[in-house]
Amino acid sequence: MRLFLTGGTGFLGSNIIRVAREQYDAEIFTTVNTWRSESPIDFAYGVIDMGNRASVLNAVRAFQPDVIVHSAILNDLPLMYRDRKLAWRSYVEATHHLTDAANEVGCKIIMVSTDWIFDGTQAVADESTPPNPVNYYGVLKVASERVIAERAQNGAVARVAGVNGIHWLRRDEEQTQNAGFGHFTTAVLSGLRRDGTFTVWMGDDINVRATPSLASESAAQIMRLATRDLQGIFHCTGGESIGRMEFAQLVAEAFGYDPSVVREGAAPPQPELAGIRIPRDTSLSAAWTASQLNRPLLDARALVRNYRQQVETGAI
Ligand SMILES: NC(=O)c1ccc[n+]([C@@H]2O[C@H](COP(=O)([O-])OP(=O)(O)OC[C@H]3O[C@@H](n4cnc5c(N)ncnc54)[C@H](OP(=O)(O)O)[C@@H]3O)[C@@H](O)[C@H]2O)c1
Repeated sequence: MRLFLTGGTGFLGSNIIRVAREQYDAEIFTTVNTWRSESPIDFAYGVIDMGNRASVLNAVRAFQPDVIVHSAILNDLPLMYRDRKLAWRSYVEATHHLTDAANEVGCKIIMVSTDWIFDGTQAVADESTPPNPVNYYGVLKVASERVIAERAQNGAVARVAGVNGIHWLRRDEEQTQNAGFGHFTTAVLSGLRRDGTFTVWMGDDINVRATPSLASESAAQIMRLATRDLQGIFHCTGGESIGRMEFAQLVAEAFGYDPSVVREGAAPPQPELAGIRIPRDTSLSAAWTASQLNRPLLDARALVRNYRQQVETGAI
């Protein structure tokens, strides 16, 4: 399989690369943005501006993929608000160009989306629940999803949620708690290792409950989507909705800490997010996706257990 991946140097992308190569023997080309070869790598990459139509079309034509997986994002919420044109170009126009490129070479396109397309009051949202985003990131993702729905000849949307696990190309990068659920297990573990305790943020504008994903498992779900004749919207997530506190306690327990070292506390002020709303409860159902992919979903305990195994062995 020839896989054209955007964002292969990202957290999820680095997991897609591992699954695609180790389980599908895929030949991969990935677009990069800021990343330069910091360590030896053996997959092809190119600096491609996703918002530049000619660059995207030429790169896809040159590689002639069997599938495009669009995982890259401009991952900077305050910047999206400061420069809305850049954000629209990076999300919606990029998806438009990639979709046209997929149509031209006759391949499937899978666009990675998010649980933040929901407003946080509609738990448990399934694949057919209408979106209602409360921030610009969610708006951009919904608009991009519509590009796939209306323009792709063979297209799918793979929503992931609160992605946890290991960034295989940037293992040493420090991860800290944020208003979302992403990188949460890593933030909890490094907090526990550093301080012996961890304070779980609570408060307004915090994503307090979600259905987290293990990055390698979302990657495996996405690769199944790539190889099956399936189109539409899919929830490539775990199978259990969980609160932040409970999730942090599971991490503590899995790594041999007494769960009582995990406490609740008010989130510190986040001036850079002032005025930006964060959906509160983005619990999803992925049961329909699991049936379509014929792959059982990980519950939160299994997710954390697999995370620990990856930390200890480096294997997925
Ligand atoms: N992480 C989560 O918890 C979470 C939750 C829900 C949905 N998602 C979705 O999952 C996908 C992957 O997210 P992630 O967490 O893996 O993100 P990430 O770690 O921040 O990676 C972002 C990737 O996008 C690339 N990129 C950024 N701007 C680009 C541009 N202008 N042109 C080309 N590439 C560009 C980056 O390249 P460089 O490394 O070269 O800069 C990097 O490879 C996204 O679609 C996101 O919306 C993630």
